[in-house]
Amino acid sequence: MKPNELKQEVSKRRTFAIISHPDAGKTTITEQLLLFGGVIREAGTVKGKKSGHFAKSDWMEIEKQRGISVTSSVMQFDYQGKRINILDTPGHEDFSEDTYRTLMAVDAAVMVIDSAKGIEAQTKKLFKVVKQRGIPIFTFMNKLDRDGREPLDLIAELEELLGIEGYAMNWPIGMGKGLKGLYDRANSRIELYRPTDDGQRFLPLNEAGELAEDNALAEDSIYSQTLDDIELLSDAGNQFDLKKIMQGDQTPVFFGSALTNFGVETFLNSFVEFAPEPGPHKTEAGDEISPVAPEFSGFVFKIQANMNPAHRDRIAFVRIASGEFERGMDVTLNRTGKAMRLNNSTEFMADSREQVTTAVAGDIVGLYDTGNFQIGDTIYQGKQPIQFEKLPQFTPELFMRVTAKNVMKQKSFHKGMQQLVQEGAIQLYRTYSTDDYILGAVGQLQFEVFQYRMAHEYNSEVVMTPIGSRTARWIDPDQLDEKMSSSRNLLVKDVQGEPLFLFENQYAERWFADKYPDVKLTAKL
Ligand code: G4P
Repeated sequence: MKPNELKQEVSKRRTFAIISHPDAGKTTITEQLLLFGGVIREAGTVKGKKSGHFAKSDWMEIEKQRGISVTSSVMQFDYQGKRINILDTPGHEDFSEDTYRTLMAVDAAVMVIDSAKGIEAQTKKLFKVVKQRGIPIFTFMNKLDRDGREPLDLIAELEELLGIEGYAMNWPIGMGKGLKGLYDRANSRIELYRPTDDGQRFLPLNEAGELAEDNALAEDSIYSQTLDDIELLSDAGNQFDLKKIMQGDQTPVFFGSALTNFGVETFLNSFVEFAPEPGPHKTEAGDEISPVAPEFSGFVFKIQANMNPAHRDRIAFVRIASGEFERGMDVTLNRTGKAMRLNNSTEFMADSREQVTTAVAGDIVGLYDTGNFQIGDTIYQGKQPIQFEKLPQFTPELFMRVTAKNVMKQKSFHKGMQQLVQEGAIQLYRTYSTDDYILGAVGQLQFEVFQYRMAHEYNSEVVMTPIGSRTARWIDPDQLDEKMSSSRNLLVKDVQGEPLFLFENQYAERWFADKYPDVKLTAKL
């Protein structure tokens, strides 16, 4: 591809993930976006989980049994001259480190909030990760067709709970049964929830920001309430600040109802307008690799195991950081310095329409892997070695003691354990003095996947004993005294041999802080 062509292609990419608490409406809005993208023709396709190869996969036995997707999938479509990549982040029960790591591969995030519930626990966790990356976050306040919280409260909550400024791009006119429409500040118009007989969906606003036409809505008390709110927002609210938005310090807020497809298109159009194209990626050496650099480079942000249980296939998901990906191309895997040919790949095309199948910076490709890749690996074309910055490790919250069921099979147990930990599938700790294995994960599903893979890939049945939810806190080895350990704050070491405590709960942590006021404890993330 010529430099100009590459530049043009890259500038079309918009790669993002949706973060939300389960049930806020992520699936519903994803579906609406895919409808606008022409990928699916009717709603219910994604939820149905059966049709469409972008839908939830049936890769693993566990997935089939539980009807969930173990790891994120990638959906791609063209919209208004842009190529959109949505990276799915699994929800509640299948929550894992993959969910976090997927956020390392996107250039923007969309935060879906149930307007009746406000900001919920999982949104908060995911937000924290996105915020650290300093990428733009777009907010969709969903379920406006139901009675929800006061819009002003919802905006205030963004600042209070998440520490991000909210700028309302539009504002509800009523809600629930009384929902009339949206006052669209950004486009200076009113979007009607139920257009009148002539089908006009948008009503223009005049220079004073009021309904320009004679309209029954202008007489409605709900409408005057909205005008009051708008005045308040203009006088006392945040000013729209694109620079802050780009850094993730301000979030544009859109109201709507994904289920009734209200406000979604307006949201999508704004998103396409403001969301950034792929930016440069930092290397460990402190350089920045431009997305339009002619040579291909990318990093592995997750590995999906057992595509096909009959083989030991895995798929390494690679975010392209620069250049163009071509099937069969020769690259170097930086960690080993080994050259490899990328023959077996899958690009994530959700659509069967004739799309040009080029994958450039911003896109995701899946590489079939027989065990060469680890999470965080960099591959590159050309002579100049590249290693992108390390992906962060996420502090697990759930812990299990693990042993081999069959003591005669220690060898396969240790091998599987070592490889799966190396791959980044799960985190391993050892108790300080007895060296027992303790596994840590962000979500319950990681344990199940681990157990399954140990049995099927390494022929090693494992016994796992939950020790529940714990808070991991690292301690400076110089300050450590083994006597500090108790059942409420178990002393373990991580794979680097660094000591940490697993606290049973906040009380145990506070008790510890009171007892050892000089000891400094740190959380990783
Ligand atoms: P998730 O992926 O974030 O977990 O949420 P999902 O889209 O599955 O939506 C959760 C529930 O909320 C679904 O109802 C969905 O229909 C509903 N929902 C989503 N958006 C809206 C909205 O704008 N308004 C209203 N009123 N409801 C909305 P469910 O009954 O749990 O599932 P289903 O049986 O309808 O699929």
